[in-house]
Amino acid sequence: MINNNICIVGGAGHVGAPLGLALSSKGFNVILVDKNKKNINKINQGEMPFLEEGCASLLKRMVYKKKIKATSDLSELKKCKYIIICLGTPINKKFNPNLKNFISFFYLLKKYLNKNHIVVIRSSIYPGVCDKIFSIIKSRCKNLSYCPERIAQGKSLKELPKLSQLISGTNEKAKLESSKIFKKICKKVIYTKIIEAELIKLFSNAYRYINFSISNQFYMMCKNEGLDFYKIRNIMRDNYDRNINIPSAGFTAGPCLLKDTMQLSSFYKHKFSLGLSAKNINEGLPKFIIEKLSETYNLKKKIVGILGLSFKAENDDIRDSLSIKLLKYLKSKKIKTLQSDEYYRDKNNIDKKVLVSQSDIIIISTPHRAYKNLKINKKKILIDLWGLIEKK
Ligand SMILES: NC(=O)c1ccc[n+]([C@@H]2O[C@H](COP(=O)([O-])OP(=O)(O)OC[C@H]3O[C@@H](n4cnc5c(N)ncnc54)[C@H](O)[C@@H]3O)[C@@H](O)[C@H]2O)c1
Repeated sequence: MINNNICIVGGAGHVGAPLGLALSSKGFNVILVDKNKKNINKINQGEMPFLEEGCASLLKRMVYKKKIKATSDLSELKKCKYIIICLGTPINKKFNPNLKNFISFFYLLKKYLNKNHIVVIRSSIYPGVCDKIFSIIKSRCKNLSYCPERIAQGKSLKELPKLSQLISGTNEKAKLESSKIFKKICKKVIYTKIIEAELIKLFSNAYRYINFSISNQFYMMCKNEGLDFYKIRNIMRDNYDRNINIPSAGFTAGPCLLKDTMQLSSFYKHKFSLGLSAKNINEGLPKFIIEKLSETYNLKKKIVGILGLSFKAENDDIRDSLSIKLLKYLKSKKIKTLQSDEYYRDKNNIDKKVLVSQSDIIIISTPHRAYKNLKINKKKILIDLWGLIEKK
């Protein structure tokens, strides 16, 4: 086992790969363990499997210097003192956490562990999960930390150095050793209890998720009255600082915000009424838009163009994207659609300008920068969900 070696499990994923790159750039030797062979091969060839600002060039440098490599062989972790777990922690169709694969991984991991390893959980989990994992591995290794990832996807390398890093653990050794590695990549660490770190992570995402739902609810109210939400929002904020932080409306989607709000709800025995209302509002927005349009237009006779498919701007990730949900909803109603995206590749995509010229109704569903200056004929029906064009 080598002190300077770090193994990241789920290392070819959206959290694992950027974290591995940040650590390798500070001198650690990083082994990314993952079961996605396609992404492993890409990484070993110096090619990022997905968009993440600044990672493509750093990966090339780190692979060239042999500071990072990817593998599917978990036994490689025997060479590493630190093992950071970045596996997914999904919810099921009923919005309950489904940690079956996550938990069962630790039974496998246990076989490779000894008392000197430092195991760090980086994934987002709900209170009690760390205790459960500790009970699985403690007969071989008692050093378990929980240090949740809090970056915004796409901005990892920029944000990692700036964000305060939460450090919690089952013993002093786990906490001190984890802080040693994180202090290399961020300015400040904060020590908390495990349950505090578990809650801080979920509260942060639920807070954002609920916040966005407020604007989405107001947007729906305005649409019902035939009013412009963005005109009202601008006036709300004008010389009135108490409203300055009201977000824009938009599809609140992706693999984290809804999932973590629902993890929290499940932890709170589904009495998290704010979180549940936010889910209904945010997830209901695609259907609301189509229902509203169909009050005025016969959508069977229109072509609806969807601008943007990824779950957030300037990204190629469509996991839990509400733009995709919108597209599927339209298709299920047998309404003709056209689709475009700047980053996510799909054989059905067409160029944004062609989409604009061929569609009767245009919905800006993901606010990619490239749509800001699109020329859209006033005769077309435009649903500018994010207020992107008005904001110019
Ligand atoms: N994506 C984000 O921006 C973000 C931000 C903060 C926290 N998180 C949390 O981090 C965790 C990971 O999220 P992500 O977005 O990186 O997910 P991801 O799906 O991109 O990455 C998970 C990786 O784990 C791999 N994997 C799955 N099972 C495996 C196994 N048994 N052995 C080895 N590899 C395995 C997958 O192939 C994948 O590459 C989640 O808990 C998520 O909520 C994500």
